[in-house]
Amino acid sequence: MAHEDDPLEHERASWKPSPGLAVAVSDPVQPPALPPHRERVTDKDPVAMKHAVRTVYTLFYLSVAASIWAIAAYMLFPIDSGAIVDIRNNNLFVGLGIALALLAIGIAAIHWSKAIMSDKEFIEPRHATRGRDTTRAAAVQAFSDANDDSGFGRRVMIRNSMIAAVVASLAPGIVLFRGLAPEGEDPVTLLEETMWTGGMRLAHDPEGTPIRAADVTLGSAVHVIPEALAELDHSEGYLEAKAKAIVLLMRLLPEDLNETPERADWSYDGIVAYSKVCTHVGCPVALYEQQTHHLLCPCHQSQFDVANGAAVIFGPAARPLPQLPITIDEEGYLVARSGFTEPVGPSFWERH
Ligand code: FES
Repeated sequence: MAHEDDPLEHERASWKPSPGLAVAVSDPVQPPALPPHRERVTDKDPVAMKHAVRTVYTLFYLSVAASIWAIAAYMLFPIDSGAIVDIRNNNLFVGLGIALALLAIGIAAIHWSKAIMSDKEFIEPRHATRGRDTTRAAAVQAFSDANDDSGFGRRVMIRNSMIAAVVASLAPGIVLFRGLAPEGEDPVTLLEETMWTGGMRLAHDPEGTPIRAADVTLGSAVHVIPEALAELDHSEGYLEAKAKAIVLLMRLLPEDLNETPERADWSYDGIVAYSKVCTHVGCPVALYEQQTHHLLCPCHQSQFDVANGAAVIFGPAARPLPQLPITIDEEGYLVARSGFTEPVGPSFWERH
C-alpha cells in the first residue's frame, strides 16, 4: 500500500528521533561518581574530637556497668526461689542489663568509626587473585596504616575500655549457664521424681479439672497435669513440678496400638499418656498428627510414634518418651496406675 494511502506508514517513514532522545541513546551509562568528600566536625575541631573520644569510652564503660548489673540482678532475683515475681524480675532486669551492655558496645563502635577513625575514601582496583610478596607487604602495611588511622594502638583509653566492655559482656552469659544445672542435687534423681503417684487423677492443663475417659475423643490430644498440681499454690515450686509432670494424652483406636506385653495394661481403651518433655533437650512435644499418630517436637524436629510406644522415628532424641501407666477409677476418671517408671526429660544426664 502506498504511503499516501496509509497515514500510519507515512508517519513511520517520516519519523526522526528527537534531539534529547538521540543524546540519551548515544551516551554510554557513566559510572556513578562519589559525592564530594565532606570533612567531619571532629576532623576540623580538636575539642569535638576530644568530646567524641570521651563519648566512646564512656559508652564502653557503661556497657561494663550494665553487664555487672545483669549479674547482680541474676543474684538479687533468684529464679530458684520459685516465686513468680522473682522470675519476672529476673527476666526483666537480667534482660535489660544484657541488652544495654550490647547496645552500648554497638553505639560506641559505630560512633568510634564514624567520628574518630579516618574517613579517607578508597577506590580498590581489581587485581589478580594471586598475591605476590609485594602485595603481602602492602597488606601488612595497610593493617599498620589502619591501626594508625583508627588509633587502636594509640588511643589507650578507648582500646582498654572496649576490651573491658567486650569481656564483661560475656560474663552474664557465663553466670546464666549456672542456672542450667540444679544445685547440689543429682539431676537424674530430680527427673525421676514427679508428682504422679498411683491413683492420682489426670486433669486438664491449666484448669485442673479431672478428665473422664468417656470425654476423650478419638484422634484428640489433651494437655494434662496431675490433679494435685492444680491445688498447689503458684509460688510453691509450681512451675518446677509442672515442668516435670506435664503429660500428653491421646486416644487411638485400640487396634492401632502396638503394645509390648509388659505395657499391655498401661493404656485404657486406646487412651495413652506420654511425658510431654522431649527426651532430646527438654522442649515441650506438643504437635500431634492424628492420621499418622506422630508427635513432633518443634525445637529440633524429633518425631515419636505414639502407636509404637512413642519410639523415636526421626530427629536427635535418643530414647522414646516415657509412658505414664493409666487406668480409670470407679467414677470413670482417668488416673495414673503409678508414677513414671523412668526419668522424664533429656537423656544427656548420666543415668543410673
Ligand atoms: S528438644 Fe525436642 S528435638 Fe530437641
